Amino acid sequence: MRSNTLTSEAPDSVGTLIDGRAIAAQIQRELAGRLAALKGRGVVPGLAFVRVGEDPASKVYVGRKEKACAELGISSATHVLPDQTHESDLLALLQKLNADARVHGILVQAPLPKQIRESVVYSTVSPQKDVDGFHPVNVGKLMLGDPTGFQPCTPAGIRELLVRSRVKTSGAEVVILGRGNIVGKPMAAMLCQKDKNANATVTICHSATRDIAAHCRRADILIAAMGVAEFVKAGMVKPGATVIDVGVNRVSDPKAKNGSRLVGDVDFAPVRKVAGQITPNPGGVGPMTIAMLMQNTVRAAEMSL
Ligand code: GUN
Repeated sequence: MRSNTLTSEAPDSVGTLIDGRAIAAQIQRELAGRLAALKGRGVVPGLAFVRVGEDPASKVYVGRKEKACAELGISSATHVLPDQTHESDLLALLQKLNADARVHGILVQAPLPKQIRESVVYSTVSPQKDVDGFHPVNVGKLMLGDPTGFQPCTPAGIRELLVRSRVKTSGAEVVILGRGNIVGKPMAAMLCQKDKNANATVTICHSATRDIAAHCRRADILIAAMGVAEFVKAGMVKPGATVIDVGVNRVSDPKAKNGSRLVGDVDFAPVRKVAGQITPNPGGVGPMTIAMLMQNTVRAAEMSL
């Protein structure tokens, strides 16, 4: 096994896999005691999903989240609205869910159709039920290092992967590819905090960054979340670095059954030969997003008492 600090290794060695499925399962097991304590007080956590339109990827993601709820004994309900829904109708549904005491968490699956303003939607979800961590109050708390808010699930899951895989973040050079509100920006806010599980020097690269490869080669921890298929090549990775692949990109493949297949933002096999630790994709970040959603929902139910 290689680490960020080792320099001599066999030429044919490969980076250790960070098993997101196993770590997510562990986190879900850790929630069992908290769920039992809630049950003892007569509370079953409730999570409401809202999906607008028929985006195939969103259907899959919400389906996986529903399944995790069912496995843990979290009650969930999915509200499906048509693609042409007016923003005001979605906001009315959210007000109803905000007022429903059985609902502890609300998740509006992104992306939303273009007639609906995401910022208005996420500001309407009660901050106390915002298990996605997208409400401006929770975004602000994250920036301020105030732990009383909810934090977005994907970056929180990545931080958990790093901690549980013993990847040292304090003093590390972290390079994040992508400046989105769901992963890139909150990831940067988390890892630059003055905290033992953060304390990193963080760089965000985006479409206007000059010489992205040079930034990547400096990274002890490289987090790819820009949504470009297999963008990160082996020559962009420092030997021994930790590589986290957030990307889910559909690419055409005439050899595949349905003519396409999913790939990450990292060119996995060649990059693994250079990396110290690397997330597989699938089986890395995805399961962690769901585990952190379950954790946020349990916490929302606890906070409601
Ligand atoms: N779409 C992609 N990732 C996410 C997420 O974490 N939350 C929501 N609500 N939508 C998403």
